[in-house]
Amino acid sequence: MSSTNRTAIRNDNDYYVTPLHTVADFFAVFRLLEPKFCLSEAQILDPSAGGDRTTPMPYPSYLSSIGNCTVSTLDIRMDSRAAIKKDYLQWESPGKFDAVFTNPPFSVAIAFIQKALSEVRPGGYVGMLLRLNFLGSLKRKSFWLAHMPKWIIVHARRPSFIKGGNDSVEYAHIVWQKGLIPAHSRLVII
Ligand SMILES: C[S@@+](CC[C@H](N)C(=O)[O-])C[C@H]1O[C@@H](n2cnc3c(N)ncnc32)[C@H](O)[C@@H]1O
Repeated sequence: MSSTNRTAIRNDNDYYVTPLHTVADFFAVFRLLEPKFCLSEAQILDPSAGGDRTTPMPYPSYLSSIGNCTVSTLDIRMDSRAAIKKDYLQWESPGKFDAVFTNPPFSVAIAFIQKALSEVRPGGYVGMLLRLNFLGSLKRKSFWLAHMPKWIIVHARRPSFIKGGNDSVEYAHIVWQKGLIPAHSRLVII
């Protein structure tokens, strides 16, 4: 999800590339926060994996560097590097995953989170890169109250989604653990 979505210039299918350092920073902290979760052996889904002819898929690229985890990749764009070219919201999952991680398309982010939560095993994780102000708005209040995340991991080093420019909005990786609905989320600033 990128704040560039708020402008008149909107990429097709909400395609914005997450910087690799943002993905690496997130996973480094996630592994410290959740030491019992064996990320390097996990079955993982990236349902909006991105990538294109010249650009790798950021989350799968990072995950492929850390061990034996299996990453299933899906994206709606035919020029994506994902193995499955489908609309995630229409896709039938073949089974449960240990975790789902991605930067979802802004316009359908809530639907992505809900579907991802339905596709991880009990105790599994869903981690999504979202704008911090996504936590606000009356429209989303009932969603947040019913789906309180476990972790809100704020990136003090802002990801820049605009080539050569800077994005003025703050981002966090928001992490849910299936079956856990805490009264309050835990905030981490990295
Ligand atoms: C914000 S970009 C992020 C891409 C990649 N995850 C990254 O971090 O660079 C969102 C991605 O979602 C894909 N997308 C949009 N709608 C989708 C849908 N309904 N199902 C699957 N992928 C979708 C876009 O093609 C795009 O690659």
